Order: sequence, then structure tokens, then C-alpha cells
Amino acid sequence: MSAEGPQPPSEAELAEMDRDQLLKLGGQLDGVEIIDYPEPWPVKNTRAERRAQRLVAFWFALSALAGLAFVVVIAWPHWWEYKDPSDVSGHATYSLYTPALGVTLGLAVLSLGIGVILYTKKFVPQENAVQQRSDGPSAEVDRATILAHLADAGSRSTIARRSLIKRTAGASAGVLGLAVAALPLASFIKDPWKDTENENSLWHTGWQPQHPGEVVYLRANTGSLDDDVKNGVTLLRVEDLDAGGMETVFPYRKSEAGNREALAAALTRVDNPVMLIRLRPTDAARVVKRKGQEDYNFGDYYAYTKICSHVGCPTSLYEQRTNRILCPCHQSQFDALHYAKPIFGPATRPLAQLPITVDAEGYLIARGDFNEAIGPAFWERKS
Ligand code: FES
Repeated sequence: MSAEGPQPPSEAELAEMDRDQLLKLGGQLDGVEIIDYPEPWPVKNTRAERRAQRLVAFWFALSALAGLAFVVVIAWPHWWEYKDPSDVSGHATYSLYTPALGVTLGLAVLSLGIGVILYTKKFVPQENAVQQRSDGPSAEVDRATILAHLADAGSRSTIARRSLIKRTAGASAGVLGLAVAALPLASFIKDPWKDTENENSLWHTGWQPQHPGEVVYLRANTGSLDDDVKNGVTLLRVEDLDAGGMETVFPYRKSEAGNREALAAALTRVDNPVMLIRLRPTDAARVVKRKGQEDYNFGDYYAYTKICSHVGCPTSLYEQRTNRILCPCHQSQFDALHYAKPIFGPATRPLAQLPITVDAEGYLIARGDFNEAIGPAFWERKS
């Protein structure tokens, strides 16, 4: 504000002013002169105006529908469950899950943006004004006048009388807000205390027998489900690994024999992968076992979950020379000779060990599920 410009009114004068006076005063104090507000629709309720209104409402409504579709995609995960490739339509639906999330959320955001831009272009008057540059921080009077300015702009935008646009824009913003809230909330929906003996709880994995006494074999992933069904799944025997070797194994429960869907699901379930390590005899002689897990190995064979105890990445790297298991995410390292306890990096708990043995025919089998929850910590676990 220049020294020659209009002087700010006193507090009493300010309190007496109505919105138009404040608007005008604000312009004067900022050196702004509003020339005019060309009316976008000089003749109200023309067909062109109604068409523009319907166009804006269409984009807001599309945004609301797309946001709703996003919530539906997230809320019904069983629609998208993995189906093996022999189930053509089921597998196609499964492979559409990620695209469906992206398309619905993207369409919701894009449509909302287009609706807002169109409304601004079609209905908000473009004021013609001349403004002088002013320096310094905003004074109280400036804040009061800018509020008046915004209120005036809102009033002139005619939003108050356009209930169709208000409703569709409100629905769009509301549903989109719901969709955004659904993302973080979805991960809290699983209740770890609900049926803790169930194999789908956080306390168990696919290595849990379906019924007491069921044998669970260690199975390799051959990459072909057809081979599995034709020739029988590839089960591992004691002689299958060389000393110093490592193989990723998955559970094969006898009750799932011939069930293609269950056999395929066992290979994709996130808590199933286990590293089967055969130590070299000289290394095996140096092993330190964890208290209570002294019989979890079979000879030189040790089986550890592949799910990192830090935040759950796959710890896929086994370094034979040092007997270290490495997690590529944050470089945690676990000592395979020391019940896979962490020796470097951010992980603080050992990798869970799967108890294994061999059956009468020489096949490696699990002696039960892990004795603790695998993977990252959660509130209810004790260690
Ligand atoms: S997830 Fe393995 S180190 Fe972080």
C-alpha cells in the first residue's frame, strides 16, 4: 500500500461496512480496480447453459461412480482370488485386479478434475481487474477484505442455486474421500484374534495340517502345474540337495492331491515359501540351535521361512560361503548356523524355523506349522 493510497478505516468503520463496501475497499487498498465481471450466461436458463450444467454434472457423477467402483473392488477381494490358468475366466478375472484398482481410482480423480475445470470455465465470471503491486505482510484489514472477496466470488459463481452440480460434486468428493480412506483402513480389517487356530490367521501358515495327523510334504515349484498333476507334485527327498545347496519349498498336503486350485494356491500364498538349506558337514558341526528347537532340523537340512522378520520381504539370498541369509530390501543378514538370528541390518528377530523330518520313503516332511507367527511384528505378538 502506497503512502498516497487510501488510508485503512478504523475498526469501528470496518465493522459498519457491508460485503460490497469491503470488496471495494479491499481492491482500493491493494491498488486493484475491478473493471467488470462479464457474465458468462447473460441470458439465464438458455439451452446452452443447461447443457453446460449437465456436462459438468456428468463428470462429477462419473467421478462418484468410479470412486464407488474402486471401493467395491477393494471391499470384495474374493472376486479376484487366484485361479489357476486352466480356469480361463477365473484366471482372467484374477489378472484384472490391479488394472481394476488403477482404472477406477484414476477415472475418479480425472473426472473430478475435469468437472472442476469445466465448472470454472463455464460458470465462474472472469473478472477484469487492474492491480498494482504491493509489498509487505497482510494486515488485518486485508484478511477481512479477502474473505469478502472470496464470499463474493462464491456468490457470483452461482453455485448456491445449482443444486444438481452441488449434489453430484458432493457425491464425487464424498465417495472419493471414502475410497482414499479405504486404502489405509483395508489393512486393519483382519482381526488377528479371530479364530487364531485357523490357517488364515496371522499365527499360522499354509504349513498347518488340514486335520490332525495329516502329512505335509516339502514341494518344489517346477513352474508347471500341468506337470504336477500329470506326474505328481515334485516332492523333495533327502538326496535331492547337494551340501551347501538351497531350494525354495512349498507345502503339499495330502488332502489337496489332485485339487488343481489348491495346488496352485499353495505356490502363491505369501506365507508359504520356505528356504530349505543343506549345510556342508563342516558347517553343520558348528550349528548353534535355539532353545526349544533342538530337533527342528533333519541332519544337515534346516528350513527357515523366507519372509523377513523386519517388514516381510522375501529373504531369497543364501550365501553358501558365509552361511548368511540376506534380505535385499534393507540388507538384514541372518546367520543360518545360528537359528537364523539377525546379525546385521534392521531386523531384530530370527527367521522362524520350520520343524522338518523324513518319512519312511525318504521324503522330507514338515512336523507341523511354525511355532510362532512369521514375518514382521504386529501389536499382539509377544516377541
Ligand atoms: S524387510 Fe528384510 S531387511 Fe527390511
